[in-house]
Amino acid sequence: MIAPAKASPAGGPTPAGGPAQHTQSTHEPGNALPLVSVRDLAVAYGTGPLVLDGVDLDLFPREMVALLGSSGSGKSTLMKSLTGFAPISSGSVRVAGYDLANLRRGQLRDVRASVGQVFQQFNLVGRLSVLTNVLTGALHDAGPINLVGGFTSAHRKRALELLDRVGIAHKAKDDARSLSGGQQQRVAIARALMQQPKLILADEPVASLDPKMSHQVLDLLRGIAREDGIPVLVSLHVMPLALEHSDRIIGLRHGEVLVSDSTERLDESALEPIYAHDDEGASDDDDLV
Ligand SMILES: Nc1ncnc2c1ncn2[C@@H]1O[C@H](COP(=O)(O)OP(=O)(O)OP(=O)(O)O)[C@@H](O)[C@H]1O
Ligand SMILES: [Mg+2]
Repeated sequence: MIAPAKASPAGGPTPAGGPAQHTQSTHEPGNALPLVSVRDLAVAYGTGPLVLDGVDLDLFPREMVALLGSSGSGKSTLMKSLTGFAPISSGSVRVAGYDLANLRRGQLRDVRASVGQVFQQFNLVGRLSVLTNVLTGALHDAGPINLVGGFTSAHRKRALELLDRVGIAHKAKDDARSLSGGQQQRVAIARALMQQPKLILADEPVASLDPKMSHQVLDLLRGIAREDGIPVLVSLHVMPLALEHSDRIIGLRHGEVLVSDSTERLDESALEPIYAHDDEGASDDDDLV
């Protein structure tokens, strides 16, 4: 296992349970402390085997990090562990100052509100307009509302600005289901931004898109990481896409981190061990149980 560069964990929650302040340090990239800091994470579902074992991960502001690994290697589980959807057996998971293994009452909702998520199937409400879908990203701070008329004009203005940013403001009034896959994913990204997230998790966001759309969506996500200064963690199944569009690559195999390095130091041959067939390289050491 190639361990990622060690960095100080992000600070714990403030007394009010809010996010930790990031202070300047010598950590790369961007001389910032990590927004996400995972140490020695183990996850098992119920009484099943460990599906993550000894995972370390740091995510820094402004970086796009690609998560690679065969099906079942634990990519989605690692992402779920950052939003409290995966059972932490041991280790620590800190996100924006929250300690996911020891959350206080009400904090789980706060963590989830601060993480924008993008999925392979977009997860839009097809019969609602594009604009309304984006507005739902503000539900956590909009108070009691109804989906049709309850958002403030400030929310609407922001949603339209975000649609403009992702290039589909002209579709604002259309039903979401009438859009192409690439357009729907842009709506989903605008919805995630509507949350004003501190972190974006994108689980196979281009798996349903053609190559051209895939590049466009990954460009968009990387631009957001850089311009908004938030980390984006994106799981992918296509090595060249990861090599072209990410600053760092984390490779999971059998629930362990096998590769963790800056993309500029990696190429396809360095990533191939992540995908080595189980029946070729398996040994007792590979067993997680
Ligand atoms: N809710 C669950 N209950 C039990 N086992 C689960 C659950 N979710 C995932 N697993 C198991 O955890 C392991 C890792 O699954 P995970 O979905 O994280 O992999 P993945 O790398 O995202 O795969 P894919 O590329 O197919 O999406 C698999 O063995 C899977 O069967
Ligand atoms: Mg998955």
